[in-house]
Amino acid sequence: MLSRSPENWSDKEGWEDYWRKTLADDEWLIKKRLLQDTEYFDSIDYFKSEGIRNVLFLGCGISQAPKFFVFGGLQATGLDVSETAINFAINYAFEYEKFYRWFNSQKFKVNKQVWIEFCSVSRKASYECGSILDPNVAQGAFDLVVATKMLQGFCKDQFKIREILECIDQRLTSNGKLLIFTINAPSAREMIDDQLTRMGYGNIKQLSDSNGKLGKSFLHLLASA
Ligand SMILES: C[S@@+](CC[C@H](N)C(=O)[O-])C[C@H]1O[C@@H](n2cnc3c(N)ncnc32)[C@H](O)[C@@H]1O
Repeated sequence: MLSRSPENWSDKEGWEDYWRKTLADDEWLIKKRLLQDTEYFDSIDYFKSEGIRNVLFLGCGISQAPKFFVFGGLQATGLDVSETAINFAINYAFEYEKFYRWFNSQKFKVNKQVWIEFCSVSRKASYECGSILDPNVAQGAFDLVVATKMLQGFCKDQFKIREILECIDQRLTSNGKLLIFTINAPSAREMIDDQLTRMGYGNIKQLSDSNGKLGKSFLHLLASA
C-alpha cells in the first residue's frame, strides 16, 4: 500500500514516518522508484553539453540519481529532510543482477566490470540531510537543481513556494538551470511558473505535460534566469 505524504510538506517527522513505512512495506514502490532513477542516465550527455558540472537533487528521498550522475562524470548531491530516506539512499547497493536488468540501455551496455566501477565511483556522490530552507545545508553553487515531486507540496501558499524558489535560486550559479517534475498538479505549475517569472527567470520551457497515462500529469519545467 502507498504511504501518504504528510499534509504539511514541511513536517520533518511526517516525512520520517512516510519513509519508515514506505521502506518497510512497499517493496514495489522502492523498486519502481529506483528503476526510475536509471532513466536519468540517458540525459547526462545533454546536461554536460549544456556546461552543467554540479547538480543538486532537491528532496531526493531514496533516489540513486546522484550516484548515476557521478558515474556519468558530474558532481552530484542529494538533499532531503528525512534521515531515514538519506541513510537508505547512501547505503543502497545495487546487486549485479538488478543493475544489469535495470540499467542496460540502448546507449550503454553493462557488464561485471562496469558494475564494479559503478560501485566504486558512486561512493563519491554526496548526500546531505537537511532542509533547503536552512542556509547551512547544500552550500555551494549548483549548475542544475532537479526537484522531482518536491515543489508541488509547497504550492498551497504562494509565499511558501516563493520562499523555497528563492532558497533554490541562491544555490544556483548565474547560468544555472532548474528542472522541475510535478505530478498531478496543474495549479502548481501555474504558481511556480508565475513566481519564477516574477523572480526574473526569462526562459521557462515546458518540456512535457503528460506521460500519456490518464491522471498522471507531469510538469517538466526547465527554467533559467
Ligand atoms: C514526494 S517526496 C519525493 C521524493 C523523490 N524526489 C522522489 O521523486 O521519489 C518529497 C520529498 O521532499 C522532501 N522534503 C520535504 N521538504 C523538504 C525540504 N524543505 N528540504 C529538503 N527536502 C524536503 C521529503 O522528505 C520527501 O522525501
